[in-house]
Amino acid sequence: MPQPLSLAVLLSGSGSTLQNLIDRIDDGSLNARVVCVIGSRADAYGLERARKRDIPAVLVARKEFADTQSFSNAVWSEIRKHNVDLVVMAGFMCLLEIPDDFENRVVNVHPGLIPAFCGKGMYGHHVHEAVIAYGAKLSGCTVHFANAKYDEGPIIMQASVPVLDDDTPDSLAERVQLKEREIYPQAIQLIAEGRVTIEGRRVHIRPA
Ligand code: GAR
Repeated sequence: MPQPLSLAVLLSGSGSTLQNLIDRIDDGSLNARVVCVIGSRADAYGLERARKRDIPAVLVARKEFADTQSFSNAVWSEIRKHNVDLVVMAGFMCLLEIPDDFENRVVNVHPGLIPAFCGKGMYGHHVHEAVIAYGAKLSGCTVHFANAKYDEGPIIMQASVPVLDDDTPDSLAERVQLKEREIYPQAIQLIAEGRVTIEGRRVHIRPA
């Protein structure tokens, strides 16, 4: 068994994505450890979840910073206090600049099938509302490497779900989140196993 992957988790909300990663680490299906959690909002319950598990958790409040650059600098100075292999965005609703040494070492999960229904303003329930309003028959989620633009980096894994006639944004969100809970830890485990390589926009996964 190789060394567990050291994760820094960035979040802005309830932290159910963080909790799922912690649960997968606990049940042995994800060979990682969460070494720090950074929240962008004071009311992000994810910070509380981390503290309950004695994981160092700090607030870097987005609203205290004038621009993306100064906010990003503050986030990276927290991340660099720890020995981090991979930065995991878990419901992190802020744009983040990514320094060269962390290129392809930041991952995100988006609650839609990129490149549809993504980009600025498309997050959380906005995605599900837009999918239903458009009349799409499929939605899903996407795990991808993050770059300095919203939802744009190379795609690691996607999973689809049907959109049902009587779906509300909440019911669709629930179905999509079940898939997120499966594929996000799976994708991170593939990275932990060293099986993920990137060629331009294409991500290759080496068979076990
Ligand atoms: C997740 O469903 C995630 O897909 C979405 O926010 C939710 C966070 O839930 N992320 C985005 O929309 C990012 N563009 P959580 O705060 O309970 O982990």
